[in-house]
Parts: sequence; C-alpha cells; structure tokens
Amino acid sequence: MNHQTVVVLDFGGQYNQLIARRVRECSVYCEVLPYQTPLSEILAKQPIGIIFTGGPNSVYAENAPQVDPSLFEAGVPVLGICYGIQLMAHTLGGHVTSPDSREYGKTHTAYNTECVLFRGLPAEGISWMSHTDYIDRLPEGFSSTAHTSACPTAAMQNPGKKLYGMQFHPEVLHSENGIAMLRNFLYEVCGAVGDWTMGDYARTAIASLREKIGNGKVLLALSGGVDSSVAAALLSKAVGNQLTCIFVDHGLMRKNEGDEVEAAFGGRDLNFVRIDASDRFLGKLSGVCDPEHKRKIIGEEFIRVFEEEAKKIGQVDFLAQGTIYPDVIESGAGEAAVIKSHHNVGGLPDHVDFKEIIEPLRLLFKDETRALGRELGLPDYLVDRQPFPGPGLAIRILGEITREKIAILQDADWIFREEIANAGLTNEIHQYFAVLTNMRSVGVMGDGRTYDYTLALRGVTTTDFMTADWARIPYEILDVISRRIVNEVRGINRIVYDITSKPPATIEWE
Ligand code: XMP
Repeated sequence: MNHQTVVVLDFGGQYNQLIARRVRECSVYCEVLPYQTPLSEILAKQPIGIIFTGGPNSVYAENAPQVDPSLFEAGVPVLGICYGIQLMAHTLGGHVTSPDSREYGKTHTAYNTECVLFRGLPAEGISWMSHTDYIDRLPEGFSSTAHTSACPTAAMQNPGKKLYGMQFHPEVLHSENGIAMLRNFLYEVCGAVGDWTMGDYARTAIASLREKIGNGKVLLALSGGVDSSVAAALLSKAVGNQLTCIFVDHGLMRKNEGDEVEAAFGGRDLNFVRIDASDRFLGKLSGVCDPEHKRKIIGEEFIRVFEEEAKKIGQVDFLAQGTIYPDVIESGAGEAAVIKSHHNVGGLPDHVDFKEIIEPLRLLFKDETRALGRELGLPDYLVDRQPFPGPGLAIRILGEITREKIAILQDADWIFREEIANAGLTNEIHQYFAVLTNMRSVGVMGDGRTYDYTLALRGVTTTDFMTADWARIPYEILDVISRRIVNEVRGINRIVYDITSKPPATIEWE
C-alpha cells in the first residue's frame, strides 16, 4: 500500500499516542517509534516529516534521551514538541534553562501568524504547557515565533531547514487551535496530501492480522461492547472461521443484554459460543467487597473459562482481546501509575494456555474504534453502544454482590436508560448507568418505614473517557427517572445523582 508516512519519535511523554492519533485525524499515516531507533531505520521509512514527542526529562539530566544530530541534516521536516523542542534547540547549539517561576497548564500565548504553523489562526490564545524548562538562547538560524509572559520561545522555526518546535502541547484539546497547528505542519511544511483513511487503517490491520495469525485459531472474548464487537468484526474479516468468539455470560450483564449479544452475533460469519457461567463467577465473588479484588477474580475467571473452552475447540493459538488505548495507559503501561486493573489488561494468570495474546485495537482511542466499526460494516446500534466494563455490574454494586442486588440494579438501570432514550439524550450523554451503593437509609412509603438501598445515577460527557464531565441532565428528567425507579423497583428508596468530573473521580465507582 502506498501512502505518506510521518514518524512520531517517542521520548517518553504522556501524550505520545495522542499525537499519533491527531496525525491520523489529519488523514496522514504515522508510526510511533522509540527515540533510540537508528536514523537509518527512520529514514528507510521515507517519512515526509518527523515529530518529536514530549518527555519527562531535562535535556541536561544524566541519561537524558538524545537524538542523532544528523537527523536535522536529512532534509526531512521536524517538529519538536515540549521536550522535543528543547532537545532540538540543545542539540543545535541553543540553550535551555530552568527558570524560578514556572508555567504549567493553560497559558496565554501570543503567536507570530507569519510562521507557517500559525498561519490563518488567531494571533493569541490559550496553549497547554507541561514542562518547566524553556529555551533562553535560540540555535543559529532559528527565530522565536510565539511567546508567553514567562517563556520567550513558546515556538521556534528555521524555515530554510524545515525545523520547527512548540514548547506547548498542540495535541491536547486545551491548546486552542492546536490541531490546526499540527495540520499546518503536516500539510504546509511536510506536503501531506491526506491519503490515509479509516478504510486504509482497516485494510492494513486486516493484512497484518492475517500475516500474524496464519492458519492459527483465534479465540476472542466477546462481551457485546463496542471494543470487542469491533475486534470481532476485524478478526472475522481477517481470518473468517478460524475465529471463535466466546461470549462468557458472567451473570453481571445489564438487563436482557445476554440475549441481545447472542442475537447480534449468533447469525454472523464466525463461530459464536455463549457460555452461562454465572454460578461460577458469583460463587467466586461471594463475600468479596474490594474493587480490585473483584476485578482480579473476574479477569482470572474469564481466562479460566477460555482455557476450558479452548480445550473443547482443540488447539488454539491466539487469545484476542478488544483492549483499546485508554485501557492500556490507565492500567499502567510503562511508567504511568495503575489506576484500575482493567480486566482485559491486568489480572492475567501466570499460566495461560495460548501462544500469544493479540489486541488489534490497542492503539486506538474510543471514537476511532467506533469509526473502524462503521468502516467494517457493523450496525449503528452496536457501534454507538456506550461502553460497558468487562467486570460488568460487579463494579457497579458496591460491596458484596448478591443475585438480589444484581436484579435490583438491572431493573433500576433499565429504567434509567429507557428514560434517557425517551428524553432523546442518548447522543449527548456518552455514558450513563446506575450504581447500587452499599448504603441503606430510612424512608417512608405509604404509611410504613422503609430501610432500603440508595441508588446513584451516573451520566458523563467525554470525548475519550480519560477525562469526563458530569452530564447536566435536566431536573425534570431526573425527576421522572427518580419517581419511576422508587415506584417500580423494590429495594430502593433513595436516589442521588453523581456530580463529580473525572478527574478527580473515575467514571465507574469501583
Ligand atoms: P473509569 O472508571 O476508569 O472508566 O473512569 C473509563 C471507561 O472505561 C470503562 N471501564 C472498563 N472497560 N474493562 C473495560 O473494558 C474494565 O475493567 C473497565 N473498567 C472501566 C468505563 O466504563 C469507562 O467507560
């Protein structure tokens, strides 16, 4: 396949994949390579441009990542971001300093709109800074093209050599017009033509899955959620009936969901197996209250069920999972801190009866995953489904899990979802669900005292599920939902609405 390539050189910053995703959004193919990649290997890819990511270091730190200086002489346009601009300046003879006053976060920035990066954009705006060092002496041939009150070189250029840098992060949404700046670099400096689409992505992914899997057999954990559904569609296009999708019904699905998943995949061109393992899961979870412990048990039990099913099918070579990129970083890839052990990433038992795990969506963000699903011809009702965590209702029932609590939560959650749909809000609120707290309180119903559970409603708006805001559901709709739930679901006498964003809260309660 012939398409232009941009290389994103990874210096260990937290936004590396986000940069790659922005480049893809601009319809340009890109590959993320570690900064240690030899220059000859980088150039062998014939990149139209190279982007240096940020990184946690100071250029003067011992063992600070370096780059081969001849990279700047190769005639390939380079954009250095954050650590990347400092490294460029430092390598080319400029100077970087650590000032006393630090700038962090949203920063008012002035741009020279004659610089090609900022052409056609406002001369002032907010940019996102996340490094405290800055360049205080430019390398020869460079000029400063943006500044803030504390940073004289918020961006720099050497147009003759096609070398550019930005001290701030254009890839994060907090930077106003940041994506337009990246687009300017790609289209105006690198000469991108925009020859990379989701269709290309799908074709490349299918081809590489075919190559990797060969004649092997693949087992996929199908939950019916967007991620595993898209993974199933991708894998079935790649290897057809070498793929067996196992839907483990752990008894912790939303109301009727098990049957819906069966209806959606039972008739497709792949081997579909549904296993009712609820007794097994609930037995293991009996008496368990700790969220991480629940997640670990469920993750492990999943793998056990697969091992058993795999044995029934015969030799299985690969276990496929619908892990997407936010799962990877939140489970602590590299140096990032572990926030939650996502069952589809963490908690793998030591002994796994498969040759390898494949995660074909590992580098995609949620909305890219949906776009890929559409590209693969999945119906909207599957692709637009809001995310549902692998551990299911286990992490929406605080404290001990019982069949009675599951039934209460399923019924309440059903009403919540139904009323959100009735109000026409399904597209505006990106994820919404009910949580059964472990708290009981006194109420009055008819003439009698009740002592029942408090149900929490959660609704969030988000673009990538890594940060989220609580959804402003109109009071009248909350009112209808609250009345219906307390009237129709036995066991609940109080309803609260969660008004915390992420961070500091997470979307799920456990
Ligand atoms: P949190 O609660 O971490 O959730 O803010 C972010 C998004 O991930 C979903 N989630 C999971 N998805 N396995 C999954 O596949 C999991 O273990 C898991 N835990 C949370 C959550 O529903 C939200 O969309």
